[in-house]
Amino acid sequence: MALYSEKVMDHFKNPRNVGEIENPSGVGQVGNAKCGDIMKIYLQVENNIIVDAKFETFGCGSAIASSSMATEMIRGRTVEEALALTNRDVVTALDGLPNHKIHCSVLAEEAIKTAVKDYYDKNNIPYDPAMFPEGDHDHEEEHIRMV
Ligand code: FES
Repeated sequence: MALYSEKVMDHFKNPRNVGEIENPSGVGQVGNAKCGDIMKIYLQVENNIIVDAKFETFGCGSAIASSSMATEMIRGRTVEEALALTNRDVVTALDGLPNHKIHCSVLAEEAIKTAVKDYYDKNNIPYDPAMFPEGDHDHEEEHIRMV
């Protein structure tokens, strides 16, 4: 079996939603301290619906494929649905990632959550801070938030 699925290769070679949104409703940037890769996700929200999502990823192919797939998965969804998206959902949608690349998909989940938090903060929308665990150690890699 090939190391990377066809979907991973497709989203790596033809990434969807690359770029920046001017005046985004929310933006989230996260990095992986070990590999140094950085992912930034922009959200445009109207009436609680994510009408646009874009990303800029300075990182490995799996991180690019994860950002591409994750932004596709949250476009047209509610903010709460985006918040519920897990890195496992992204991995499943990509037909899998090698074990040592799972952490790349974690960046996508965290960047989206950070962007939603930014949206909530900008709009004074109350939320339970526990939804955005700082220093979450569930993941096998250490991540840092930069926004
Ligand atoms: Fe760093 Fe993939 S190796 S995000």
